[in-house]
Amino acid sequence: MDNGSTDERYHEPVMGREVMDLLDLDGDGLYLDGTVGGGGHARLLLERSGACRVLAVDRDSAALAHARRVLEPHRDRVRFLQARFDRAVDDVEVRDRGLDGALLDLGVSSQQLDADDRGFTYRFGAPLDMRMDLSEPGQTAADVLAYESEDELAHLFRELAEEPRARKLARQIVRRRMTTPFRISDDLVAALAAAVGRAPTHQEKARVFQALRIRVNQELESLSIALDGIRRALLPGAVFAVISYHSLEDRSVKHAFRDWSRDCVCPPGLPVCRCRGKALGETLTRRPIVASPEEVARNPRARSAHLRAWRAA
Ligand SMILES: C[S@@+](CC[C@H](N)C(=O)[O-])C[C@H]1O[C@@H](n2cnc3c(N)ncnc32)[C@H](O)[C@@H]1O
Repeated sequence: MDNGSTDERYHEPVMGREVMDLLDLDGDGLYLDGTVGGGGHARLLLERSGACRVLAVDRDSAALAHARRVLEPHRDRVRFLQARFDRAVDDVEVRDRGLDGALLDLGVSSQQLDADDRGFTYRFGAPLDMRMDLSEPGQTAADVLAYESEDELAHLFRELAEEPRARKLARQIVRRRMTTPFRISDDLVAALAAAVGRAPTHQEKARVFQALRIRVNQELESLSIALDGIRRALLPGAVFAVISYHSLEDRSVKHAFRDWSRDCVCPPGLPVCRCRGKALGETLTRRPIVASPEEVARNPRARSAHLRAWRAA
């Protein structure tokens, strides 16, 4: 997880050139940027084609405000929507017209990581909030740590953080919260240190905090709904590109693209094909594209990025 703080780095979109090449922009098309964040990819889209339009979606109002400033020179061709990206396909223009391409660049932006009051990182004294959309009444990270059972916490840290001492960590959390509520990042880092029996490494802390963030924002659920919804909104020939930073997200994207690219999805052994019998499109990336060493050196956040793309038939 990157804690990079300069505005320049924030504006550098991950694998920008690769994403633009895959999206293969077409004249005056309508493109969905479901995770507009700092507006980096959206700006590349708008600069690449002087006629295309972008529906710029983010669930975080602060990110949208930032994207509005960055995309101001192109304001006639951008519409902003504060929503979860799985709801973007309810937009009336998307429903009526369809999409010429779509991009999801998952996770959080460097600016969100840098915001001291949002609690996305384990920086000293950060409040355990982690909600991307502060206007929604959902649970904060502190709520999850306060109310989930030991079993649920162990499951969360095992599945989402691949933490080998997930059970010990869950036990530490349940024991500690009986006397003092978890309020700031240091409280969770202390529980992790007790579970591993030493000062946790940067990677261990990053994985545990990322897992909690994914749980707070229901990120895997949102992605799974969005994949199919966005696919249905694509016009023939439209490309859907997804950049993920977590193995479970990447797996979900890989499986969806693979299933949509199959001619037959009937269970094995059926004597007659009963499914649609025809691929819905083709996967453009047999293996995920990863950032070049030069890009990773410039922008460490790109290190764990996996880019996949699929084209509708
Ligand atoms: C990695 S950043 C995107 C950066 C952007 N591509 C750029 O170049 O500036 C991810 C953004 O997606 C938003 N986000 C994450 N999950 C979302 C969801 N389910 N629906 C809408 N926005 C989401 C986050 O709030 C964050 O601003």
